Amino acid sequence: MTESQHGESKIRHSEKLWGGRFSEATAASVEAFTESISYDHRLYRHDIMGSKAHARMLARQKLITNQERDAILQGLDDIQTDIEAGNFVFKPELEDVHMNIEQALTDRIGAAGAKLHTARSRNDQISLDLRLYLRDEVAGFDRLLREVQRGFVTLARTYLGAVMPGYTHMQRAQPVLLSHHMLAYYEMLSRDRSRLKDCARRMNLSPLGSAAMAGTGLPIDRESVAEELHFDGVTANSMDSSGDRDFALEFLFALNLIQLHLSRLAEELVLWSSKEFSFVDIGDRYCTGSSIMPQKKNPDIPELIRGKTGRVTGALVSLLMTMKGLPLTYNRDLQEDKEPVFDALDTVKAGLSITAELLHNTTFNTDRLQQATRGGFMTATDLADYLVKKDIPFRKAHGIVGGVVAHCQQRDIELTDLSLGELRKFSPAIGQDIFDVLSVEGSVNSRISTGGTALIQVERALEIAEQQLEEL
Ligand code: ARG
Repeated sequence: MTESQHGESKIRHSEKLWGGRFSEATAASVEAFTESISYDHRLYRHDIMGSKAHARMLARQKLITNQERDAILQGLDDIQTDIEAGNFVFKPELEDVHMNIEQALTDRIGAAGAKLHTARSRNDQISLDLRLYLRDEVAGFDRLLREVQRGFVTLARTYLGAVMPGYTHMQRAQPVLLSHHMLAYYEMLSRDRSRLKDCARRMNLSPLGSAAMAGTGLPIDRESVAEELHFDGVTANSMDSSGDRDFALEFLFALNLIQLHLSRLAEELVLWSSKEFSFVDIGDRYCTGSSIMPQKKNPDIPELIRGKTGRVTGALVSLLMTMKGLPLTYNRDLQEDKEPVFDALDTVKAGLSITAELLHNTTFNTDRLQQATRGGFMTATDLADYLVKKDIPFRKAHGIVGGVVAHCQQRDIELTDLSLGELRKFSPAIGQDIFDVLSVEGSVNSRISTGGTALIQVERALEIAEQQLEEL
């Protein structure tokens, strides 16, 4: 049986599913280099699901008998049970998940097993498996994204009314509500969810029946298989289907934006938990210490999320480069799609789930946030807008307020420290009502434009978000 001396395969060439035209056993080094079973075994459930639908169709089309179909279905179920019980040995010499399962089927049920691959190629089979697998994953991602959204909404509800500095260029810009900041992330994740759903919709066509790349002369029925597997239809062009990985790329891109959003949050949490900011406190259970500096409490979780963004981006770039310049149709290069897809998937999933926990274990220091809105002339724009309402052109108002700020800076005081008399030296249009305008609360609550930071708008946005989380 075995011919493993001199670096040859453990099985004879004649035992390979494609061994007919070969007269020598495959070199062991070639098997090691070309195998994908070490990572594509995770497609086993979807491979079996696809094979069962294919077998039922073959029987409907009289390409196999009903007895053969039943033997195949039973055999595949038994294989799945064994895999899930840890009683199945995947063999690298059988290359991939498809051939491992098909070989095991034939070993178990004999001749009928050898009929399963009728009118099918591994080229349409792998495309089918990956689509089925990713379609399921999209549903899981939607649940996780919703969890994280719930975390933001809970924080927004808990701290409703708390003010903080809003930044541009990382400089204090305008005061905002903390809840407004939290709901900004809610929006990003809403887009992530809709992007994944959109990608799943385009992915949801069955490639099965494209066979190697030209279709088949056997009387198959692609549509009924597609229907059984809950696809929206079948792919239109067998050559396109054989060499297409757009769906995997789109999925990777959607994951990349999720990871990017998590990474932006991570950066903020790292900054905010520093002594310099002291905006947040991350619970002890979600931080780690230093092996040398006893005082340290480090935000390792957000740092790792930020750091893992590199590999998620790498996965997308890796598959883009694999696809670039590939001639139609299937090329073995396409096997390189799976590892980046799986790695990105695992990484983003882990990041989302730890972020959900992290948000539940993060508290904001509202006094400190409030205090941080005091310095930095953050209501200067409000003063300019006030002048605009008094009929002064905005550019002129901008210049006047610039002068006020420079004056305060020289004296090392805030806008609110100026008396009405002092303010009126800059513009006689300024009246007593200016002091409401210059207060942080007045500033925040004046931003009533749709999507603005005024309490009334943020309350509305929060209610909508809470309702959406109930519904979807
Ligand atoms: N393991 C292969 C892959 O992932 C399956 C398709 C193999 N097709 C072939 N013609 N060798 O792409």
